[in-house]
Amino acid sequence: MRVSNQMTVIAAYEQRTPRSRKHFEEVAQVIPAGATRSLNAWPPHPVYLESGAGMVVTDLDGNTYHDFLANYTALPLGYADPDITRALAEQVASGTVHSFSRTGERELAELLAARVPSVDKIRFTGSGTEAVMFALRLAKAYTRRTAVAKAEGGYHGTTDEVMISVRPAANLAGDAHAPRSVPEMAGIDESRVRETIVVPFNDIESSAAILRAHSDRLAALILEPVLGVGGMIPADREYLAAMREVCDELGIVLVFDEVITLRIAPGGAQEHYGVVPDITTMGKIVGGGMPIGAYGGRADLMALLEPRGGTDVYDARSGGPVLYQGGTFTGNALSIRAGITTMSKLDAAAITDLNAKGELLRRSVTEAVAGTPVALTVTGIGSLFNLHVGVKKVHTFRDLRGIDAARQHQLFIALLNRGAIIAPRGMGCVSTCTTTEDIEFFARAVNESLIDITGEC
Ligand SMILES: Cc1ncc(COP(=O)(O)O)c(C=O)c1O
Repeated sequence: MRVSNQMTVIAAYEQRTPRSRKHFEEVAQVIPAGATRSLNAWPPHPVYLESGAGMVVTDLDGNTYHDFLANYTALPLGYADPDITRALAEQVASGTVHSFSRTGERELAELLAARVPSVDKIRFTGSGTEAVMFALRLAKAYTRRTAVAKAEGGYHGTTDEVMISVRPAANLAGDAHAPRSVPEMAGIDESRVRETIVVPFNDIESSAAILRAHSDRLAALILEPVLGVGGMIPADREYLAAMREVCDELGIVLVFDEVITLRIAPGGAQEHYGVVPDITTMGKIVGGGMPIGAYGGRADLMALLEPRGGTDVYDARSGGPVLYQGGTFTGNALSIRAGITTMSKLDAAAITDLNAKGELLRRSVTEAVAGTPVALTVTGIGSLFNLHVGVKKVHTFRDLRGIDAARQHQLFIALLNRGAIIAPRGMGCVSTCTTTEDIEFFARAVNESLIDITGEC
């Protein structure tokens, strides 16, 4: 029954998307797996999008979808917001990237420093990945230590030092209270793995013990206040507060990775939780749909980025160590303009409204799936959510082991068939243009998709 029904969901998908299928076969000849982002390659083939406006995107076959993923939470105002479109058009007319800094950087920097409690000073980067890379290097230079700690299930971009234990296989991950450092893929060498210590998210006692055991070599603890890619699992406030205390005690720099969570309050998750890190990394919404990242923090830490004499950062007379930051497209005029427009529109009132929509969505979906034959749990906070198929409770990363991976994928495909986009692993969000009707539509689509994948009518 399950197999034949699975065929039905996949067959319906194939039938709706023949042009995407053809494109996939052709593009896979020149781009591995037919997608530049690994996440965008899924079986039997991805759909390819042509355009987007508000919440609605259109694929190559002319199918339309309500996009509850919004480029993995990067588009809080939806697609083609008129203010951003106008700002970008104006900017293009006077250049996209320039040889020297432009004044717009100051406006976005001041806006973020005024909002985010931990930020005295801030630097922009090309992506969230780069922001994390520079933030961790800053912590290492400041402490003169070499190792970093991260949570099991935490995702911080794609550099080697954080591509550790993001989704570790159960047979490699070790004890829940003393997780092993597991490289996510081939190509990450053993010496790097030894320098990344893994702590169990939301487990105060074990995390503190692990940090103590490695304190003499730990420069930083990097945490997402809500595990994002790891399932939209909010930290307990007590957990973050305890990690703050332990880091203070051991001289470890606490980094909050707010690339996703900055949207849950004007000052990010650190404002929501009332726990202030030493450095914050940001991305996604800060660029208003254009590529960006940023890292900011206490003035004494950020001072390591300031040359103190000499002619440039390479000049030995500058009295180093001075950290060098490069990036041809960093601080480009388009990202900065789109960022200023987005962050100005995303004021406290807009965020309150966004969070109320997120709350409504989580409640509506939870009600809509009660009584369906497949267990589904909705996690999240503010405007963020994640649907987990096959599990009843999710508080720690290890709780996700109960997920029915085959059905999770079927749900993703079934939702596409019904015109709704979430991430293959269930992540989603609402945008300022999401309406109550969109949320009702989504809750109904999840309910019907669960029925599609179980064969129950
Ligand atoms: C928490 C977190 N940190 C860092 C990153 C990396 O950002 P980027 O994809 O812009 O490199 C992501 C991306 O999803 C993220 O979710």
